[in-house]
Amino acid sequence: MPPLPSSARGAAITGWGRALPDTVVTNADLEARMDTSDEWIRERTGIAERRIGGSTASLSIESGRRALACAGVDPASIDALILSTTTPDRTVPATSATVQHGLGLRCGAFDVNAACSGFVYGLAVANGLIAIGAERVLLIGTDTLSRIVDWTDRNTAILFADGSGAAVVEAVGGRGSLLGWDIDADGSAEDLLFCEVGGHLHMDGKEVFRRAVRIMVDSAEKSLAASGTSVDDIAMVVPHQANIRIISAACERLGIPMSKTALALAETGNTSSASIPLAWFAAADDGRLVPGDLVLLVGFGAGMTAASAVVRWTGAGRP
Ligand code: ACO
Repeated sequence: MPPLPSSARGAAITGWGRALPDTVVTNADLEARMDTSDEWIRERTGIAERRIGGSTASLSIESGRRALACAGVDPASIDALILSTTTPDRTVPATSATVQHGLGLRCGAFDVNAACSGFVYGLAVANGLIAIGAERVLLIGTDTLSRIVDWTDRNTAILFADGSGAAVVEAVGGRGSLLGWDIDADGSAEDLLFCEVGGHLHMDGKEVFRRAVRIMVDSAEKSLAASGTSVDDIAMVVPHQANIRIISAACERLGIPMSKTALALAETGNTSSASIPLAWFAAADDGRLVPGDLVLLVGFGAGMTAASAVVRWTGAGRP
């Protein structure tokens, strides 16, 4: 994408929240249900356990409420709700309608489905809404993949899980904190990872792996170029939490040390739309980010979508 116009009305994240279901499923639990092992899952994916349960709406309401409290804003002042999800609770209406009501918002609400790239797609859309006049957007990424996983299929059941992350994105004076962004999709690859309506996830894991590294690197390089920054300027990378080997291969090609990554994969598994915000905001809550830090978000997913962004971290509270 071209560099952002200097006249654009900027935005920044002023609050965030996370939500995970209570039920923990360990690799040992999966060992008891299918032909796999804790050792195999840890070595091949980096996942030790995952959380399952709840609905997309209930997890979204929980993370959204925390983000609103963190930003210290009145729900009635939110101008738009964007819910990134691949696992809506109903086909109609959009799950964002349920979440809007549950949070007491009075604003437009819609779902975005770009699989695991969805939260970064949503961040670009939130910035676009603010550029054309919105003051405050609530962006939530939630998935409940446990509901569409075939729990007898060791190819997918070991990877996917449930969770939610949310951010309040507010208008600020000046350029704002989104310095560069990129969104992409290659629909010709849709059969690599799909779920029919009412069905289960099907995945060609090897081919997804092969493409994932390439498209993450490609998208990250586009966002870095658009923002006029280099990898050396980046304080933290928040990659989609799919597989530790994908993350380390992409970081190696980008020339970014693994010590700069935010990781939640071992405890959460792959939570799709929630993956980037869960890892990002866990790092923020752990005090790993200071205002001014440049953060590189980079995701990929079914579709095959990709999305990345370079964001200046502004920290909690009103700008
Ligand atoms: N437990 C034990 N053994 C297994 C398992 C398992 N769960 N799964 C496969 N195996 C076996 C295979 O049968 C094979 O055995 P063989 O050598 O005797 O034939 C061996 O392990 C190696 O299998 P591979 O498929 O080559 O394993 P690989 O290293 O590719 O790992 C994995 C598989 C983890 C699925 C990997 O390919 C991957 O992570 N791919 C990317 C998936 C992904 O990121 N998906 C999300 C996309 S984002 C979104 O939109 C949700």
